Amino acid sequence: MTKRPPSKSSYADTKTIRYDAYLKLGDILTAQSPLTDQHDEMLFVIQHQTSELWMKLALHELRAAIRAISEDTLPQAMKMLSRVSRIFEQLNSAWDVLRTLTPDEYSTFREAFGAASGFQSYQYREIEFLVGNKAVRHLEVHKAADIRARLETALKAPSLYDVTLDLLDRRGFLITPEHLARDKTQAYSADPSVLGAWTQIYRNPHTYWDVFELAEKLVDFEDYFRRWRFNHVTTVERVIGFKRGSGGTSGVNYLKSMLDVVLFPELWAVRTEL
Ligand code: HEM
Repeated sequence: MTKRPPSKSSYADTKTIRYDAYLKLGDILTAQSPLTDQHDEMLFVIQHQTSELWMKLALHELRAAIRAISEDTLPQAMKMLSRVSRIFEQLNSAWDVLRTLTPDEYSTFREAFGAASGFQSYQYREIEFLVGNKAVRHLEVHKAADIRARLETALKAPSLYDVTLDLLDRRGFLITPEHLARDKTQAYSADPSVLGAWTQIYRNPHTYWDVFELAEKLVDFEDYFRRWRFNHVTTVERVIGFKRGSGGTSGVNYLKSMLDVVLFPELWAVRTEL
């Protein structure tokens, strides 16, 4: 992580640089290519593009937060996790714009994009892998070698929760060694030793303040992420009802099944213990 800006002399010519050049607006604002001349397709394209930009930032922050937790620099990690939650809050508000798209408007351009679907969003899948939803079956839709390699790296790497459990271990909490050494490419399942550690922490937050605060940042993130899934499925039902998805799934029923995913199970279970 860069701590300090470089000296002024190492920047490009600061007197002549322009807003549009700095932000590459020429690229960004010419990247909308609706496939029809239907008025409402522009909303659909921009809504997806802006979501992808926010996901890019979320990935940037998540990768850095995972590194910071591994390096025991918790204040920085928590700052970044707060930002990720705010990004999801932003994405959640964005659904309000898409909700103005009525089924008849959507049907004016639906045929044009064929089998394209958010299901093929590799950034979304990478977020899922980084935060621990290691559903390996989703790799299948990604055929391009560079994307595939990127997703496989994220699949094999310790997730946000894995590095948090390693941190608990370093702090002396008794986490079962086999659980810490689990196969990181597999979906996470809850472990009693982890619940025991969180119970100890949540019963004595002032004794274990920084890990307690980190735990609440994780819950915060999962809370906002759940709202994103819920807003998505509700918007989808509102626009296409129970039709099949363009990506080949059952559509709303598939998305509803995703609402059952729990990223940090012991952090939810600990509430019942208190
Ligand atoms: C009218 C708008 C939308 C409709 C009708 C829609 C529909 C769907 C459907 C039916 C699926 C299930 C996969 C499939 O069979 O296609 C899906 C998945 C997905 N969509 Fe959307 N979607 C919409 C807007 C968006 C937007 C704005 C985003 C933002 C990037 C998005 C991101 C995703 C993602 C990431 C998935 C994969 C979810 C998962 O696997 O858990 N969708 N969408």
